[in-house]
Amino acid sequence: MRRLVAGTGWKMNNGIAASRRYAEELKARIAPLDTSAIDIYVLPPFTSLAAAAQAFAGSPVAVGGQNMHWEDSGSWTGEISAPMLLEAGCRYVELAHSERLQHFGETYAQVRRKVDKAMSAGLVPVVCLGESAPEKAEGRADAVLAGQLLASIDGQPDERIPEIILAYEPRWAIGAAEAASPSYVEERHRALRAVLREHRGESVAERTRIIYGGSVTPENGGAILALGDVDGLFVGRAAWEPGGFARIVELVAGAAKRKAAARKP
Ligand code: 13P
Repeated sequence: MRRLVAGTGWKMNNGIAASRRYAEELKARIAPLDTSAIDIYVLPPFTSLAAAAQAFAGSPVAVGGQNMHWEDSGSWTGEISAPMLLEAGCRYVELAHSERLQHFGETYAQVRRKVDKAMSAGLVPVVCLGESAPEKAEGRADAVLAGQLLASIDGQPDERIPEIILAYEPRWAIGAAEAASPSYVEERHRALRAVLREHRGESVAERTRIIYGGSVTPENGGAILALGDVDGLFVGRAAWEPGGFARIVELVAGAAKRKAAARKP
């Protein structure tokens, strides 16, 4: 049984004071919910990480970085390392977000090294995978996704792959007016799981979480979460207010209960 995930990336929003306010309100809003069966994370900007981690301490909400370098230290101006994220209180690190790839020229060869570092440092990597609009139009989505996935996990032993969270985030659906349709998401998640099965075996495929991100809202999230191969939601804009993320957390906690009940004989 895969634990469902509710995550939000704040992108370049929320300084220290705003992060503290967000944390207090989110904690209050989710306190009445049973979140014991799900994993929840927020990804603040680097300068807010320590304050956010402190504010969420003792709550079900974990904190993560939005990017990371593959070395521990050195002459890498402007970069942040895994030990720095851990010291700031992070449990997660997001890698390969499409905005990093598009605007800052990151590549999956770098992502592979970052996954390696995150795994050895004890951070949970959330690895984004997604096809562009032209790749989708050319019918190449599944081939592109398979290439990104295999490059990201290259060199990781089978038994550790399920520690990685895969985030399917079609580039054309990020920051867009609408999410991908549930049927489109279902096909891509099924194809990604099939790649895991083919290359790493049934057990890895069954245990590895694949979450969806790209214009998720409390309104469209339920239908996406109901899909068998979707193991959670990764939300941007709709979770930038704590009330919005609390509604997403509630949806994911409810879906976790339904999926667990459906598995009982
Ligand atoms: P939006 O939900 O704003 O489309 O952003 C999604 C995202 O980038 C998650 O990583």
